[in-house]
Formats: sequence, structure tokens, C-alpha cells
Amino acid sequence: MNLGIESETALVVGASEGIGYETAKALLEEGVHVLICSRNAQKLEAAARELHASTGRKVRSFAADITKAADVEALKAWVAEAAPRLDILVNAVGGSRRALFEDLDDAAWLENYEFNVLGTVRVIRAMVPLLEKSGAGRIVILGAAGARMPYPNQVVSNVHKAGLIALVKTLGVEFQKHNIRVNSVSPGRTLTSLWKTRAEQIAMDRGVSTDAVIHEFSEEIPMGRFGKPEEIAAMVVFLASHKASYVNCQSILVDGGIARGLV
Ligand SMILES: NC(=O)c1ccc[n+]([C@@H]2O[C@H](COP(=O)([O-])OP(=O)(O)OC[C@H]3O[C@@H](n4cnc5c(N)ncnc54)[C@H](OP(=O)(O)O)[C@@H]3O)[C@@H](O)[C@H]2O)c1
Repeated sequence: MNLGIESETALVVGASEGIGYETAKALLEEGVHVLICSRNAQKLEAAARELHASTGRKVRSFAADITKAADVEALKAWVAEAAPRLDILVNAVGGSRRALFEDLDDAAWLENYEFNVLGTVRVIRAMVPLLEKSGAGRIVILGAAGARMPYPNQVVSNVHKAGLIALVKTLGVEFQKHNIRVNSVSPGRTLTSLWKTRAEQIAMDRGVSTDAVIHEFSEEIPMGRFGKPEEIAAMVVFLASHKASYVNCQSILVDGGIARGLV
């Protein structure tokens, strides 16, 4: 399938590993010029080198923490310098937090809000002027299946990821004046560092093996296994492509069927 995005420019935020990394790789394979960002400069540069080695394409990188407003301003200036316009923005920063309601104080709620919602808002706000120059910009953000089927013990991220669905619905309308489409992908359990670290922690707490934890959490998934980051990235790239030219304001589940609500 020709996605029609060759020679376009994309910024992928949260791209040094996991779903963001696989998205950057898939975009490079489609001939897109890719800029990548995440916090840890060393890890980011290593990712840029790996992406170059595996795709033969040069990747430019900039280290920024999107929970810091000044970093996002610096990222904006760097992108404006690196590319005359931006066609695709992907934000793959975020995560879920396992904690009971009674263990979460205001600081924990605010920290998670900044990580899952405000960081995304800041990145979008900073990049809209560059996306506008594209004439047909696309924004894809990463949500979570937990927003559609709230998981137990994850109240704070369930609430904030649900907020991102509202963000996508609102901006996809508001940004039509700039001809920018806005969508999100909601992954189910996906084997990235996020889940590997969590499974190791649960395994340690229970005195069982990490494999046993992964097996237990897989049993709830109709497909019986965790997703692979590249399986999520494939949907991100499709939504970011011209093949999805009439898809707007949507949050698409890529979750092996775990979230079974009708809406
Ligand atoms: N994996 C899952 O099971 C799952 C399930 C549902 C939803 N999701 C969603 O999918 C998205 C990607 O998840 P993932 O599993 O690929 O995550 P991941 O493996 O933890 O990777 C996260 C990436 O974001 C970067 N990052 C983290 N905090 C950042 C910050 N404040 N500013 C800039 N970069 C930052 C990380 O690099 P640095 O640490 O160097 O910054 C890394 O490159 C998230 O929104 C997550 O909520 C994942």
C-alpha cells in the first residue's frame, strides 16, 4: 500500500524506545524525514544511530522533557530550524500508574496530569503553526485502552487517558480551520519497557517469575498475548498517512480485543 507520505516531515516525541521508536522506524521505511525527541540525550542518540543502521536513513534528534514548558519551547525552536514545515506530529509520551485511589495525593494526580495530558497539550500547541504550513497536517497521539475500559488499580491514568479522547474529539474539529486531522491510538497491553518493568516489579512483590506475571495478564486478553510495539506503530502510521484522509477525531483501539465496550 502506498501511504503517500514519502518525503514528508514528521516529529515523533517519545521515540527513543517502545511504540514511539517503532513509529519512527516505520515512518522512515515509508521515506519520511523523521525528527525524534525524548528526555535522555544518550538514549535518544543511540536510538537515532540504530534507526539509521536499520533503515539507512538519517534521523535528527533533540532531547526535551515535555513536562517542562521551557523544554517544549526549545523543541519548537529546534524543529522550526530543522524543517520548514511539519506534516506529521506523533506524541508517544505517557504511561499508566498502578496505585489505589487512597494512595494518590494531589501531587501524584498533578504529576500524572502533566505527564499524560499537559505534556501532550504543550507539544501540540507548539507544533500547530508548523503543521499549519503543511496544508494537510496530521496529529496522532497515544492514548490507552484503559480509557475505554478502566483497569482496576490505575485510576489516575484511566482518568487522564480518557481526557485525551476528549482532546482529540475537540481539536479535530477546532483544527479544521488549519486542515489538520487529529486522532489517537489506544494500545492495550504492549511489551515495551513500560510493561516489562511493571511485570518485573509485580513478580518481585509476589515472589514469582516475570514470565508468570506476563502469562497471567495475557489471559485476560482475547488474543492471549501482549501486543508488540510495531503492531501499535502500524496503526499510528496509517492514521498519519493520506490513506486515512477521512479519519478525524477518532481513538482507535489496538488491544487484541481487551476493551469490549460497544462505544
Ligand atoms: N506499553 C503499553 O502497554 C501501553 C498501553 C497503553 C498505552 N500505552 C501508551 O503508549 C505510549 C507509549 O508507551 P510505551 O510503552 O512505548 O512507553 P515507553 O516504552 O515507556 O517509552 C516512552 C518513551 O517516551 C520517552 N519519554 C518519557 N517521558 C518523557 C518526557 N517527559 N518527555 C519526553 N520524552 C519522554 C522515553 O524516553 P526517556 O525516558 O529518555 O524520556 C521513551 O522514549 C504512552 O502514551 C503510553 O501511555 C502503552
